[in-house]
Amino acid sequence: MTMRVAVIGCGFQGRIHVEAFRRLAGVDVVAVADTDPQRLASVAGDFGVPGRFADYRALLAAGPYDLVSICTMAVHHAAMTIAAFAAGAHVLCEKPLALNVAEGEAMVDAARAAGRVLAVGYNMRFTPNARAISQFIASGRFGAPVFTRAWAKASQIPWWGEHYRKEVSGGGALASTAVHFLDLALYFAGFPEPLTASASATRLFPRKRGGTAPDSLAASRFTAEDLIGAHVRFAGGYWLSLEGSWIDNRPGVEGVPSWDYSLDAIGEQAQVSFDPLTIRGEAPGGEIVDLLPAGTSSDVSFPPSVAALIADVVDAVRNARPPLVTGEQALVVQRIVDAIYRSAELGREVTIARP
Ligand SMILES: NC(=O)c1ccc[n+]([C@@H]2O[C@H](COP(=O)([O-])OP(=O)(O)OC[C@H]3O[C@@H](n4cnc5c(N)ncnc54)[C@H](O)[C@@H]3O)[C@@H](O)[C@H]2O)c1
Repeated sequence: MTMRVAVIGCGFQGRIHVEAFRRLAGVDVVAVADTDPQRLASVAGDFGVPGRFADYRALLAAGPYDLVSICTMAVHHAAMTIAAFAAGAHVLCEKPLALNVAEGEAMVDAARAAGRVLAVGYNMRFTPNARAISQFIASGRFGAPVFTRAWAKASQIPWWGEHYRKEVSGGGALASTAVHFLDLALYFAGFPEPLTASASATRLFPRKRGGTAPDSLAASRFTAEDLIGAHVRFAGGYWLSLEGSWIDNRPGVEGVPSWDYSLDAIGEQAQVSFDPLTIRGEAPGGEIVDLLPAGTSSDVSFPPSVAALIADVVDAVRNARPPLVTGEQALVVQRIVDAIYRSAELGREVTIARP
């Protein structure tokens, strides 16, 4: 049976979702919603989507849908997800899960009560690099996770959406960007229980990148952090160091802004890096050996990993299995994000409460 999909939010990420769903056999994007009439018309027109709605509630009422994909900012994630479950659909919600843990818990509870899938858009797990690392870890040759250093450093502010407004996006360099590498670190480490977080954060805008604001309204609404660093401790002794930046002074290449997104993870037996992709262990004599399987291709490109995540969610719904990125896991990420922001605000280490 053809799967009926609806996408809410036709901005940067919504367009990528619609395109990826349309490429899958047996999947029809039957409706899209956006409050911005131009974006709605542009996405619906480009992909020939018949159902077009300014109000997502009208979209849901015109269902049923098998799957609703939510590509609006975090401020809308909880209300839209819970309404989609009430309308009987499974949900793919973009990252971060929500504005805060309380909203995230309500979303996970609603999924459970409805008996529906809640998947979340942590697409970096679907890059060939992440797959190579997770396969290596699953082989048992990494050993117990010890320490991860993860970072996402960009030279520009993502002005195309309201990522710079914390009350809309849930946060800046962490919740909008580095959160992908927080998720990836936890995924590789097997989602250990977080215990404490200690963090510092700041906003250097407009002293840095002040001249890049699209207009004075956007500049006056910049409430998110653009530089953040955190240290997180976990049960069992594992720890994580995380850095996020939108104001990194790395030069772009031929006018294209550049970024540095990666992680190094140390296990008891081996060490892996995401980009450039490396997997290294040691010989019995202590010499470092390259354990990256011959012929492994390195690829961290973005739209193909989103398309692979979407293919996984569609398969999960069809086969009544959990998706690779679950709502429960995204809630653990959210607990750490909330704790990092709380610690930065208080200027001291904070305990991460068990759910
Ligand atoms: N997985 C990834 O790598 C990735 C990349 C980019 C964005 N995202 C996430 O996707 C989400 C959207 O980000 P974006 O960059 O596409 O932002 P965007 O601003 O480009 O798109 C958001 C769209 O939502 C629409 N919208 C706002 N309120 C609405 C409402 N009530 N009903 C319907 N539509 C509404 C806006 O008009 C806009 O077109 C965010 O949660 C973001 O973190 C994820």
